[in-house]
Amino acid sequence: MNLLDKLVIPLSPEHIVLLHYISMLIFFLFVPFISIILAGSITSLYYRTKGLKQNNNIYLRFSIDLIETVTINKSMGVMLGIVSLLTSILIYVQLFHSANLITVNFLIWAFVFVTLGIILIYTYRYSASFNELFNSLHELDNKDNRFSEEIERVRSNSRKLSFKAARLGLILLFIGTWLFIAGVTLGFDISKWSDTNVVSVLFSWAVISRYITFLLSAAALTGATILFSFFYWEGGKQDLSDEYKDFARKTGILLTAVPAFLIPLFLLVDITGMPGDSLSGSVFTFFTLGLLLIFLGYHYLYVMYKQNNTNYSLHIFIVVLFTIFSTIIADQTAMINANKEQTYVLAQNFENVMSKLTASSAPVKISGEDIYKNVCSACHSFDHKVVGPPYKLTLPKYHDDVDKLVKFILNPTQNNPGYPLMPNPGLKPDQAKAVATYILKEVRKYE
Ligand code: HEC
Repeated sequence: MNLLDKLVIPLSPEHIVLLHYISMLIFFLFVPFISIILAGSITSLYYRTKGLKQNNNIYLRFSIDLIETVTINKSMGVMLGIVSLLTSILIYVQLFHSANLITVNFLIWAFVFVTLGIILIYTYRYSASFNELFNSLHELDNKDNRFSEEIERVRSNSRKLSFKAARLGLILLFIGTWLFIAGVTLGFDISKWSDTNVVSVLFSWAVISRYITFLLSAAALTGATILFSFFYWEGGKQDLSDEYKDFARKTGILLTAVPAFLIPLFLLVDITGMPGDSLSGSVFTFFTLGLLLIFLGYHYLYVMYKQNNTNYSLHIFIVVLFTIFSTIIADQTAMINANKEQTYVLAQNFENVMSKLTASSAPVKISGEDIYKNVCSACHSFDHKVVGPPYKLTLPKYHDDVDKLVKFILNPTQNNPGYPLMPNPGLKPDQAKAVATYILKEVRKYE
């Protein structure tokens, strides 16, 4: 962790709030992306297995179309899945470095698992498309037996490899996202910061219920993505058979609707599990907004199901996406609330660092003249009486002894009959020395 500590820059309170907002925006990218990768690959793998067993071309085609949709392309995988998570780790290091290392640790492990998982899922994606090519080759070339056997062998090997990659990738993604959810949950659950037992954190009720919410919304978003990308995006996928269309529509609706019915329940469980000092009016507002959006989603799903069409594909996609956004905002707000103390500590650090910086690089010049003008001149003049006696009468007895005068300024005594006691001007020794030097020099002008 020493290495990471080196990355920490002192933060002013404004920067801390800014970082919370940036991390929210990054989650807006990361969470939906990792959701559709996870749930999309499971669905794709499921239909691929089923399609091969039943020799069903619709299932097989859907499996490929789906994995191609959710993985978008390689650079998206790197940007949205890997770079975004890495960025949020850097932000969390800044926010939590002095108090809450356990959150950062969880996120770092999440990063390792998620990165490996994403690589394997992309391997599955490209090898699955590749296998399809073999299939067509196989059908084309049936005459030459020797050649055909060879193709069959390569094909079955690459298929095995593709399945292996998908299964292992999914396991890694499951673990990675679980660690991720645990890290985020710890972000607002201060009571667990000292809990170094990873297992007890992972299996705590708060983490499990949030993880279930995450999986449910991942499935719902994947269903919505199917509807959106097959039927709306760029006019929808072209030249689909009616049978295939109907299958994709039903699968999309089902995959969105079933989890959507369970999400409200788990959202409520999530809120009740949150520590009191993380809750505030705006946390509740965004949770409520999430719930309302889900109910709106039910409405669109129902209409689309009843009318047997795909007219509301875009609406459903937006509704599900914004439900996820509003829960992310609620979580981040809770985190800001729970970390007020930590924010204070960081701000305090910042002040210390800043004052050290100003002290060493640009020593503040203490000007005797300024102090005289701002403090002493209210009661003193060099040549006439104000509240106190004129300097030209009182200073000569000091015989240019700066230290003696400093002693008086720091601790005034009654020296001149007929005058009241001089109140202590409250100067620091170096300030007193500066002003004493200044007035002893100035008074010579009046000799
Ligand atoms: C609120 C009014 C007030 C302020 C402000 C004030 N003085 Fe005085 N000062 C007096 C009075 C009254 C006396 C006379 C006290 C006595 O000697 O009994 C006095 C006395 C003095 C004397 C004469 C001491 C002596 O040994 O005879 C010096 C020198 C002096 N002040 C310096 C300063 C300097 C320097 C400052 C600014 C840092 C300052 N004073 C600010 C009211 C003030």
